[in-house]
Parts: sequence; C-alpha cells; structure tokens
Amino acid sequence: MTKKEAKQRVTQLREEIQHHRYLYHVKDTQEISDGALDSLKNELEELERTYPELLTPDSPTQRVGGEPLAEFSQVRHRTRMLSLQDAFSVEELANWETRNKKVVPQDYDYFIELKIDGVAVALHYEDGILTRAATRGDGTVGEDVTHTIKTIDAIPLKLRQAVKGRVEIRGEVYMRKKEFDALNKHREKQGEKVYANPRNVAAGSIRQLNPSEAAARPLRFFAWEVTEGFSLKTRAEEYELLQELGFPVPPDAERIRTLKELAKRIDAEEDRRLKREFLVDGLVVKVNDLALSERLGIVGKAPRGSIAFKFAAEEATTVVEDIVVQVGRTGALTPVAHLTPVQVAGTTVSRATLHNADEIARKDVRIGDTVIIHKAGDIIPEIVQVLSSLRPKKAKKFTMPKKCPMCGSKVVREEDGAVHHCSNKKCFPIQREQIIHAVGRQGFDIEGLGDKIIEQLLQEGLIKNAADLWDLTEGDLTPLERFAEKSAANLVAEIQKKVKIDLHRFIVALGVPNVGTVTAQD
Ligand code: IVH
Repeated sequence: MTKKEAKQRVTQLREEIQHHRYLYHVKDTQEISDGALDSLKNELEELERTYPELLTPDSPTQRVGGEPLAEFSQVRHRTRMLSLQDAFSVEELANWETRNKKVVPQDYDYFIELKIDGVAVALHYEDGILTRAATRGDGTVGEDVTHTIKTIDAIPLKLRQAVKGRVEIRGEVYMRKKEFDALNKHREKQGEKVYANPRNVAAGSIRQLNPSEAAARPLRFFAWEVTEGFSLKTRAEEYELLQELGFPVPPDAERIRTLKELAKRIDAEEDRRLKREFLVDGLVVKVNDLALSERLGIVGKAPRGSIAFKFAAEEATTVVEDIVVQVGRTGALTPVAHLTPVQVAGTTVSRATLHNADEIARKDVRIGDTVIIHKAGDIIPEIVQVLSSLRPKKAKKFTMPKKCPMCGSKVVREEDGAVHHCSNKKCFPIQREQIIHAVGRQGFDIEGLGDKIIEQLLQEGLIKNAADLWDLTEGDLTPLERFAEKSAANLVAEIQKKVKIDLHRFIVALGVPNVGTVTAQD
C-alpha cells in the first residue's frame, strides 16, 4: 500500500467507523456486528501505527465510549468510568502479567468474573437510598437515567445494610437471551423492526425520557464494582459486599492463582457461555489485591490491574484480493474469494467460498472490496456482506470464465440452475476431485491415500478413475517420488482392505450430485 492509498483508506475507515459508532452509541442500533466493527478499528489502528503522521486527535481510535445525549441531564462521574484493555489469547494475558510485574514486582493472584454483554451504569446511594443513576457517556460525563433505572427490579432502591454517606456501585444492565428472542418475535409479528442484540434493547430502554418502555422490558442487573463508600482489601471481598448490599453479581466468579488455571477456565467457559441465560462476551481478569491494583495505575483509558479476555468473534472484516475459480468433483465451477488473511473465531482465514455467479451478483462482491466474513465452529467461512462505502475506485467485477481454467474446455451453465460446469468430462481436476471424493472418509476411506498421491498417480497415468486403484501393485508405486518399498506395500494393502465396503459408502463414493451419507443410507 502506498502512503497515498493509506491516507485514502484511513479517511474512509474513519467515516465508516464514525457511522457505526453513531448508530451504536446514539441510536442504540447496529448494522454490523461488534466483531466486524472491531476489525475495522484494528485496521485503522494498525495504519495509524504504520503511518503516525496520519494520526489526528479526532480519530475514532482516540476516544472512549459515546457522547452523552443532550436530552438528558448530565452527570459528572466522581471517578472516571474507564474501559478495559482487551486480550484475545492466553499469550496476551501472559504478556499483561509480565508488564504488570515490571511495574510492581511481586506475586499476583486474580479474581475472574464473567464479562456481561450489557450497558454499564453507575448508581449513587446517599445514606443507603438510590439517588442517581448515570450511563458511562464519554467516561467523564454520563447521562442521568435515574428515572428508567428505578424501573429495574434487580437494582435496590435502598441498600440492604444501613450505610451512612455516599456509596457508588457500578455494574451492567442486561437482558436475558430468551426474553430478547421473545421480544423480537413479538415485534416481528407486529411488523416492527427487530433489535440487533439484547444490549441494544437495554441501552435503548434506559435511555428514554419516558420510563414506561424500560418498565415494560425485562431488564436485569449485575453489579461488578463498589466504587465509593467502603475500604476493601480484595475483589473477592468486594463481591461479598455487593451481595450483602442486595446486588446480584455475575455467577461463577472465582479466585485463581496462576495463568495456567486461567487458561483452563477460559477453555471451559468457551462452551459453557453458550448455555448461559445471558450473553457473555468474555472474562474479566482482575488483580485480586485492590491496593496492588491501585498501585498499578492507569494507562490511557484503562486500568492496568484489570483486563478483558474476549472470546473470538465470529465475524471480521477483510479485503477480497482475488476471486479464483475452482473446478470441483462434479465439474462445477466454484468461485472462491482469496482474502487478506484475518483472524476469525480463533483461526486465520484466507479463503471464503462464493458458491456461484448468482451469489456473487446478489452480494455484489468485487475484487478489492472490504467484506464482512463469518465463521462459526467448523463451518466454511462465508462472505456475509460487502461494505460498499469502503469500495475502492479500481474494484473489479467478477465474470465467470467462458473456458474451463483447468482444461480450456467450454464452460456451460446448467439450464435451470445457477451452476456453471466444465463441459469436458475428462478435465484433470474433475477426475482428481472425483477420486479424492471416492476414497475420502465418507466413501472408501482409504488410509494414507492423500490428495498429492492421487494427483501424482493421475499425472503418471497410473489411474484414470477410482476403480483403477485396485489394479495398482507395489511395483507400480515404488518408482514414484515419495514412495519407498514399505510405504508402497502399505498403500496397496490399505487399498485392498477396502474391496468390501458398506453399500452406502459405495453409493457416496460414486459422487452423485447431492447424495451424501444420509441420502445414501436412506
Ligand atoms: S470491571 C474499568 N467487570 O465491560 C472498567 N466490567 O469492556 C472496570 N463489564 O466497561 C470494569 N462485565 O461495562 C467489569 N464483570 C465485569 C464486567 C464488566 C461487563 C463491562 C463494563 C466495562 C466493559 C469493558
């Protein structure tokens, strides 16, 4: 990327991020997922790091939270409402510990809490009575939302213990998943717009001038901090106190001593969080000793003593570098997007299927486009959306080739389908893919017969189709590269082991379009 291109990209990214931030913070709605927006922010940050001269004070990377809305009275926070630094791997947590130990060298132990995906609020109590509630706003000044917060049942209007003077509690307003789904279902039935996620509903409902909407929503609250009013020694003690004062706290908080234990907890939580009643987007790791946490101080807008471990997002943004056509087992031409490598759901992704020409046209994906890709679990990554405002002038439309990119034969389009085919039944990759499919796990399941070997056997003219495999001998194989006597014998033995297989496996191996294991068994 030239500097000129970088400058252009930085400007575009800033506009795009501002647009989504505005929707998020002011309109309480979302067009793209948190993961996708984080990805755009990361790209901007990286460009600003590479070209520091492009950094401006008004860049979205330089700010915390949202601006307080003018309709609400403003509340100046007595202590700044900070945010947390993020970590995405155990390695990043280890680096965090190392950095902290340089600032204050001593042994550390930690308190781990669920990170609730909701809206942060600060609650002020005077002589035990709730007097004011405020949103984070820009961290220094928030919005007065006392009238809507008072409708939330989980927030005590009076503390359970008599406390003289001022107390400030902070925590998260959220909504349960089930209740969110029910709300959206209802809205859909009424022909109303559905909400993007529970956090948007929570944020939207507490930021209403009229408290009736908040009262009508099943909003809930978890407290995570006693900011003022008590002197405490540890986070664990703070949790006890919050409960004694009458606040619900996020469940399954625990004290841990080592990062190894933490890694175990993270692993367990990856599955567990999906079964929870509310959305959890990570774990907050806090230095347990509050005096130590205080000594560690603040960097920028975040305390050093706490960090958010974020679970891998299932969406990210990246750039389509090229669209390449592959010829599959049935001769179908599949366009595949080659992407700038990006981390999604914990792995690096550099390819995404585009299915067929109609799909590309429908999504209007062009070479050079910035796209949102989605990947969950073991599924093949997919392009879900093009961010067309980030489209460069030189973005190129894709057209299906007229000739097969592998063998040069004519490409034909199925009469009533969206799929293009190579018309040559002998097209090398067609054969290769067919054989790979036939011997694959759902078919003949032949150990040790990988794609490279099949390609080699075809190239050497040793086989033309899967059936030829059973004619292979040790001697056919030993002259080939990659084969010694033993490995040749092993492969022949493995092939011969599969002279008899289950009928459904044989049917799958035939490679009839749309016939997988289940259909074959039927
Ligand atoms: S402690 C300096 N604990 O996550 C801020 N925050 O991404 C101290 N959050 O601003 C925050 N669950 O709104 C803390 N158990 C938890 C939390 C939690 C959710 C939110 C909070 C915070 C944001 C940071």
